[in-house]
Order: sequence, then structure tokens, then C-alpha cells
Amino acid sequence: MSILVTGGAGYIGSHTCVELLNAGEDIVVLDNFSNSKPDVIRRIQELTGKRFPVYAVDILHEPGVKKVFANEKIDAVIHFAGLKAVGESVQIPLTYYHNNITGTINLCAAMAEAGCKRIVFSSSATVYGTNTNVPFKEDYPLSTTNPYGSTKLMIENILRDIWVSDNSWSVALLRYFNPIGAHKSGLLGEDPNGIPNNLLPYVAQVAVGKLPQLNVYGSDYDTPDGTGVRDYLHVVDLALGHLDAVRHVRKGAGVEAINLGTGKGYSVLEVVAAFERASGRAVPYKIAPRRAGDIATCYADASKAKALLGWQAVRQLDEMCADSWSFTRENPDGI
Ligand code: NAD
Ligand code: WQD
Repeated sequence: MSILVTGGAGYIGSHTCVELLNAGEDIVVLDNFSNSKPDVIRRIQELTGKRFPVYAVDILHEPGVKKVFANEKIDAVIHFAGLKAVGESVQIPLTYYHNNITGTINLCAAMAEAGCKRIVFSSSATVYGTNTNVPFKEDYPLSTTNPYGSTKLMIENILRDIWVSDNSWSVALLRYFNPIGAHKSGLLGEDPNGIPNNLLPYVAQVAVGKLPQLNVYGSDYDTPDGTGVRDYLHVVDLALGHLDAVRHVRKGAGVEAINLGTGKGYSVLEVVAAFERASGRAVPYKIAPRRAGDIATCYADASKAKALLGWQAVRQLDEMCADSWSFTRENPDGI
């Protein structure tokens, strides 16, 4: 039996494909390559020495998704496919609601028809909204501040409702904190279109000389150095969390929300300093106004992942920065 990886050519999906294949799993990838390049597939195959079926299908195309289930023997799905840019989601909310929510409904309908009822979903720490009492625990009240976040919360609710209607489903709602880093080989990494929104790809592009300086969004937060604090986790640790989550959903039915983070927060200026150490390059920055929608501090209580999945992030910030830097140095213009 195979694991269907939707969005398998993307940043987190590609690293997860490598770890699944290295662990001896069979995979099938579905991606419309709207935010990734087909060459990622070749790179996954090069890294693992394994080939696997790839469907260039949009999850919005229901017959296309059903065909994948008809052609392949799939016993579990890891669902990464979705649009993820917070700012863009404010500009084009309907596109985000349509792609992420309608796409997930199509996927679940195809799964139900095929009798495949195990799903691991890419949720996000964004569902903790404006909570301030860190570390964030899975049972905290949920809310969102932008359409992207709302799609994640709605999909969590849709998947819970599916389970309520049919208790034989097994659902893991993985709430990622801030994934950064890249594969050690320098072949896979975060490859955003245009000017990056997220801190690490932006810092990396400043270090490689493509952008002049970083804007640090706010220096007057209630944090040790006044800049925002986040729970950065290595994308390979995150990928390994998916392997554990698939093993978990294969064990039995139920629905669980699980944080995937390190449990430790770093400020923007600590990340800049770590990146400068890792790259040996200067990262000039200027203090800019706060970014709308940002909170001061966000980090996980990661104890549930350890207890339920046996998963724990082990890679440290310096390694995350070193690996991000290797990827950017090897691929200055992206993949
Ligand atoms: P990504 O954009 O690199 O990967 C998403 C992949 O899905 C891309 O390859 C894209 O082409 C594909 N895709 C998008 N819409 C599709 C559609 N309609 N049909 C088929 N394929 C489609 O993003 P990522 O950083 O790898 O994130 C993966 C998932 O994790 C997303 O759902 C994202 O919302 C979630 N997530 C990401 C982060 C983060 O910081 N990167 C944090 C929390 C949650
Ligand atoms: C990190 C810190 C910024 C860019 C986002 C989504 C979240 C999740 C992860 C998907 C903050 C500061 C950033 C810059 C800066 N994604 N910053 N200058 O906002 O924590 O989370 O990605 O689910 O939903 O909201 O990540 O990397 O954008 O920001 O000073 O140019 O870096 O203010 O403190 P964020 P980020």
C-alpha cells in the first residue's frame, strides 16, 4: 500500500517524501506545481534512488483526484497541498477558500469513495490566533486573523465533522510552528516565488546578495530584545514527524490535533545572528514598523507529540541556518 502525498513537490512535502522513501514506504505524489517545480521530483528521486508515481493533478479537479485512487492502492494520505501566503490570502480570499477548502472536500470525497480513511493534515500554529499564554497547547481556544488561517481552522473542523459522522476515520491535525532549514544535500529547500514573506528565506536572500537588507518588523514587543519570538523547527524534523503521524493514524481510528514545534522560541535578532554565524555573511537590517497581524511570541508545548507519536525535534537553530544557507548558496535563483 502507498501513502498519497498531496503537495509532495512543495517545501515540506518534498522533505517528507525523502524521509518516507528512506523509511521504506511507497508513495504517490499529487501536485499541480502551482508553487513548486517539477525538477523537485527528479531531486527526490536522485536523493533516494527510488522512483514513484507522480500525478500533475489539481485537487480542485475531482475526477482527476478520484482517478489517482482508482489507479493506486492508497491506505493513507498526507495532505500538504494548499496555498499558504498570509498576505496574499487577505488580497484574494476567495482563491484561498476555494483552493484550500474545496480542494480538501474533493480529496476527502475521493478518499471516502475509495475506502481510504486515514489522513494527516498540514494545519498551522496560526489557528492559535491571538493567544498570548505561551507555550501553546492543543486544547487552547482557537481563532484566526486572516483568510489563510481561517482555511486551516475550517479544514480542521471539516475533518473533525467527517470523523463524527464516521468514527472509522483516523485523522491527525498537525499544527506546525515555523519550519525552516533545508535538506543537507542542498538539493531541496524553500523556494518561494518573488520576494519572500517569511523570515528565513528573506534573510537568506539578503545574505546571498539578492536583497539589500532585512526589515525587522517591530522592536518594541514585550520580548527580551523587543523583536518577535517564534518556534523555528528544522524541516527534516518536521518531515520525520509525518512519518510518525502516518504510523499513528494506521494504528487506529480517532481525531487528534498535535503541535509540531521544538518548544523553544528565538527572536528575529537571534535568528539573524545565527544566520550570520552559519553563513559567514553579514545580514544588514533596519528596524521597521510592526507587521499587521503579528503577535509578540509564539512557541509550542510539544509534549503531546512526544507522548502520542514518540516525536521530538532534535535539530538546533545553528543547523537550521547552516542548511538554509547551503540550499540558498547552491540555488541562488531557486530550483
Ligand atoms: P508549498 O507551497 O511549498 O507546498 C504546497 C504544495 O501544494 C506546492 O507544491 C503546490 O504546488 C501544491 N498545491 C497547491 N495548491 C494545489 C492544488 N490545488 N492542487 C494540487 N497541488 C497544489 O508549501 P509548504 O511550505 O510545503 O506547506 C505545505 C503545507 O503546510 C501547506 O498546506 C501549508 O499551509 C502548511 N503549513 C506551512 C507552514 C510553513 O511555514 N511553510 C506552516 C504551517 C503550515
Ligand atoms: C517570523 C518573525 C516577523 C519577515 C507565518 C504564518 C504562519 C505559518 C508560518 C503557515 C515574525 C519577523 C518576518 C521579515 C521580520 N505559516 N519578520 N521580517 O509570521 O511567525 O508565521 O509562517 O501556516 O501561519 O503566519 O513567520 O517567518 O513570516 O515571521 O522581521 O521580512 O519574523 O515579524 O516575528 P510567522 P514569518
